[in-house]
Amino acid sequence: MNVEQLLALKQQALGEANAADSLDAIEAVRIGWLGRKGKVPEIMQAFKDVPNEEKRAFGQAVNGLKTELQELINQRKDDLDSAGPVDSFDVTQPGRWSRRGAHHPISSIIDRAVDIFSRIGFTVVSGPDIETVEHNFDALNTPADHPSRNPEDTYYLNSGELLRTHTSPVQVRYMKEHAPPIRIIAPGGAYRRDTEDLTHTLNFHQIEGLYVGENVSLADLKGDLTYFAKSILDPKTEVRFRPHFFPFTEPSLEVDFSFDGKWIEIAGAGMVDPAVLEAVGYDPDKVTGYAFGMGVERIAAITRDMPDIRVLYRNDMRFLSQFT
Ligand code: PHE
Repeated sequence: MNVEQLLALKQQALGEANAADSLDAIEAVRIGWLGRKGKVPEIMQAFKDVPNEEKRAFGQAVNGLKTELQELINQRKDDLDSAGPVDSFDVTQPGRWSRRGAHHPISSIIDRAVDIFSRIGFTVVSGPDIETVEHNFDALNTPADHPSRNPEDTYYLNSGELLRTHTSPVQVRYMKEHAPPIRIIAPGGAYRRDTEDLTHTLNFHQIEGLYVGENVSLADLKGDLTYFAKSILDPKTEVRFRPHFFPFTEPSLEVDFSFDGKWIEIAGAGMVDPAVLEAVGYDPDKVTGYAFGMGVERIAAITRDMPDIRVLYRNDMRFLSQFT
């Protein structure tokens, strides 16, 4: 027997194993080839008559046949086994234990906020974390020399784009594509080059809100944020509005929620500046709007009693498994 004949036999063996369609049939193939009286041991007998210069190639071919055939047979047995009907099972066998996952506190707060705002007609939209200077600053009426544009405060990419410093650019994107009236919230990540401490992380989350239409007023903003505060915290929660400044709102406010006898700063807000409405092609004589951006980590810190918000980003199971 020579190497070529051997390779032909191998094809035949693999073919038979593939064709076997029951566990009995595959076992018959195994016995016929690899069994004690099978064809493979027979071929081994022939080894001593192989000319010396062919012994090496012949030996390799026999081994190849053996291992490939054995692997295929195991594989086919597995396949046929799992495909077969289950006729008995062990009722005493312990069940498989699987760990129960949980939503990250940031995700659950966003989910709840989405739910609360959906009830008063807001739809959820999103925008990219990598933004243009135009969307993040220019269209939001931010002066060229505003300190927030500084590379010490903002992460710029080599492309000239940046990691958005707030979710407000989603306002711009959405207004450019949709005519008023609009009522949206946009939850997502934001990035600032800050020093991390108990209440600051380099990336954090905001929920942007925007309502533009005819006769939208500061009273709508106050009413909607108060409804939100009472829904997400407690019906007894109070809301306080303090005058502030943002380039893209006029007037601008900071919004505090009462919690545990303290005022906690939760959001920036205000009436959308006419310059912003104009920049997206809206007519500020026909429509007005309010906007807000609130900090998700702030809400997490108070509702989950978290003195150090950095734990939210450490992926420590001891912390995360509390929320299952
Ligand atoms: N973008 C502001 C911030 O990140 C918050 C804000 C949003 C203020 C919308 C007014 C209107 O601080």
